[in-house]
Amino acid sequence: MPKPLTITTAIAYPNGRPHIGHAYEAIATDVFARAARMMGRDVFFQTGTDEHGLKVAQTARGLGITPREFVDEMASYFKEMDDLLGISYDRFIRTSEPVHHAASQAIWEAMAANGDLYLDRYEGWYSVRDEAYYDESELVEGTDGAKLSPQGTPVEWTVEESWFFRLSNYQDKLLALYAEQPDFIQPESRRNEILRFVEGGLRDLSVSRTSFDWGVKVPGSPDHVMYVWVDALTNYLTGCGYPDDTERMARYWGPESDIVHIIGKDIVRFHTVYWPAFLMSANLPLPGKIFGHGFLLNRGEKMSKSLGNVADPKELAEAFGVDALRYFLLAEVGFGNDGSYSAEAIVHRTNTELGNAFGNLAQRTLSFIAKNLEGRLPEPAATADDEALLAAVREAVTDMPRAFEKLAPHEAIQSWLRACYACNAYIDAQAPWALRKTDPARMEAVLATLYVAIAELAVAISPVIPTSATALLDHMGVPADARGYGESVDWYESLRAGGFVLAAPKPLFPRLELPAEAE
Ligand code: MF3
Repeated sequence: MPKPLTITTAIAYPNGRPHIGHAYEAIATDVFARAARMMGRDVFFQTGTDEHGLKVAQTARGLGITPREFVDEMASYFKEMDDLLGISYDRFIRTSEPVHHAASQAIWEAMAANGDLYLDRYEGWYSVRDEAYYDESELVEGTDGAKLSPQGTPVEWTVEESWFFRLSNYQDKLLALYAEQPDFIQPESRRNEILRFVEGGLRDLSVSRTSFDWGVKVPGSPDHVMYVWVDALTNYLTGCGYPDDTERMARYWGPESDIVHIIGKDIVRFHTVYWPAFLMSANLPLPGKIFGHGFLLNRGEKMSKSLGNVADPKELAEAFGVDALRYFLLAEVGFGNDGSYSAEAIVHRTNTELGNAFGNLAQRTLSFIAKNLEGRLPEPAATADDEALLAAVREAVTDMPRAFEKLAPHEAIQSWLRACYACNAYIDAQAPWALRKTDPARMEAVLATLYVAIAELAVAISPVIPTSATALLDHMGVPADARGYGESVDWYESLRAGGFVLAAPKPLFPRLELPAEAE
């Protein structure tokens, strides 16, 4: 049996509504989770909201409401976005939940028991926007001469009593971890950044605050709330049953689990330095892989005014379709790189790849069968050409789960597209419509080959475009046990023998037009 997979997105600060970056991360992680399930793996997929911290408290105060009222409303927008985009999370966690407070206090106590926490006074720079402490040497100068964090956000001088975590004790252990597990930090470029940072030496980390109280209470120090990142990172454990559900922990956060965090490139330090140090301190297993994806830029100039705030994932999904948006984001940007999007690029890619290369292939083949064979499934009689096409399709679709597993969705999509093009070349070369009068048996063999090829292509791409792929497979009568990766049941023969009748198909990806104002 393959190892259980625990896969997570970062949990978002619900300071504002979700934007395209949140959608991108949720979609990518969803695709990996779905692909793993299709490989027969036991998957736990968690996402959610990171609700504590000074920034949330300040925003709520600015609105004249309590932080609790504020996050209740905002978290619902994130959940709504996930549901709209077909994100198949097993758990949507909110860090304000009581079970999460309990888990955060448990890891705190474990770190304390290990001798890693002490009380002192913090004096230094803090960025409320990043919820991060910075060393003087990391700051940069803004245009007006003000000091800024390396992310370009304002910093303020902070002095308060604080609990500290002995991060300085973990330098060697972290460097050993990166050496032993070379793919702990991905992609490679982020790994080098972190190596340099840790090699430069680590200072102890301030891990509690006393100037506000919107957070998880420090056990035994009622005036302190935990530094938001301590509680935030612990969300991953909460969902896995920490500390009490030992059975669940053994399955999803055990030494045998495969644990993957998908995050943005700006928060790699928190996940690859602080997080493994906290886990080592608490004597808990470490994640296997942390992947820092890139940012999406709105190329902007061609976006329609009527789309309003075009970075709103809901509006993008409504304008172009959920599956088109999912496909576009993963096909367009090599995972790990920055990328850009525009209405024009989404329309173009959807029309040429989903619409023409795949949608029309299915539409032409299935409507031909519905019309000319009254929906009866054609009889196979494979020639070398037919076998060559199916072999090409199978090669592509066996590469796909491997590409998803190594977090390279763009490579999976490339394989899939190549197979779609091979089918288009085959249909043009075999010209089944011309065979109708001259050689009906051969026509049937060609259509039977295409039927199987189209179904296999739909199964293979279903993590990316789950709604359309499922609709097509349902329409084609493809049974549930043929919808995983690596299944080789002979469903086609049974479907034919069972007298399945194919109904006339509806186009899967109607042609998109550019919104008028975008011209
Ligand atoms: N809320 C943080 C951010 O948006 C991410 C927290 S991820 C966690 O940058 F794992 F730490 F929770």
